[in-house]
Amino acid sequence: MSATQNIRAKVVGTGHYVPERVVTNADLEKIVDTNDEWIQTRTGIKTRRLVQEGEMATSDMAEMAARRALEDAGLTAEDLDMIVLGTVTPDHHVPAAACRLQKRLGAGKIPAFDLSAACAGSIFALSVGERFVTGGGYKRVLVVGGETMSSIVNWKDRNTCVLFGDAAGAAILEAGPADGPGIMDVIIRSDGDMYDVLYIPQGGSAQPITPEGLAAGEDRVIMKGGETFKYAVRTLTKTIKEVLERNNLTADDVSHVVAHQANMRIIEAVAQRLKVPMEKWVTNIQDYGNTSSASALVALDSARRSGNVKPGEIMVFAAIGAGFSWGAGVLRA
Ligand code: ACO
Repeated sequence: MSATQNIRAKVVGTGHYVPERVVTNADLEKIVDTNDEWIQTRTGIKTRRLVQEGEMATSDMAEMAARRALEDAGLTAEDLDMIVLGTVTPDHHVPAAACRLQKRLGAGKIPAFDLSAACAGSIFALSVGERFVTGGGYKRVLVVGGETMSSIVNWKDRNTCVLFGDAAGAAILEAGPADGPGIMDVIIRSDGDMYDVLYIPQGGSAQPITPEGLAAGEDRVIMKGGETFKYAVRTLTKTIKEVLERNNLTADDVSHVVAHQANMRIIEAVAQRLKVPMEKWVTNIQDYGNTSSASALVALDSARRSGNVKPGEIMVFAAIGAGFSWGAGVLRA
């Protein structure tokens, strides 16, 4: 539940950015043994946006998304009190890409940090932002999810390389009255038993990169797809149900779902189990692929800009990713 009874974190601005380069399934057929029909039927992905190598890093895309969110909110970077950036693809291992973003935006000497929750980065960052706004005395927090997935994907592995895209999504949270619009509740959880189901084996403190590892692609994402799929469907369904129930809401009360876009079949399976019809789900996986911590924030921005979200409507926000980490929340528009 929200940290205090008299403040709610409302979403006053959103924005997103995707690179210009469109990569089709046919383009991927040229580099791995795959085909458009397989990719579309198994994942729903038709195209993804990828940065040109060396063209942009995560903080560049995050800056574009953040500037759009500031513009949407009618604010400037000087109005911000904190920056939280969900990412597993920071510009450098050290320091946080959020610090580069702070400088680029021209924000003051406000705290700026990265948060690592993989594809759940959006909801973890929103949850942290919400806490600082409702209980920490921070008036406005910029929450960003940004990923350059193309920099950690193994372009020789057809099991994974067809799935991901590059993007950034941003939202500005501002302190408002508890009975007004904003984040009503968020649940976040992790399960370290799933640690090596989806991970990058080498390049961290546990295992340095070796020549053999490099040759085997162990410096890149590896994934047990089937296990990920089943866990994602079960856990997202359960957590969305839980957050609705503890706020005395039912599936019928939900007007829009802005969930992480891992795979269209995961979204459809969760929609069916929750009995929330597909037309209420905002999707971008067809065009952008799985953009990890960016995707749900990109969906939130698309929903707000579509003109379809009416004041007072209930939106569900949900994501799951490596860790495994996941969460679900409810927002009043
Ligand atoms: N093109 C063609 N064939 C492929 C490809 C490809 N790109 N990738 C795998 N295959 C082959 C496999 O090698 C396998 O061949 P085999 O039977 O000869 O061994 C066959 O297709 C079937 O593979 P499966 O893994 O059984 O296919 P499945 O129906 O499970 O779909 C997929 C695979 C799409 C990865 C699915 O498991 C999935 O979506 N999992 C969730 C993973 C996910 O979304 N991860 C994103 C990150 S985590 C997150 O965001 C929550």
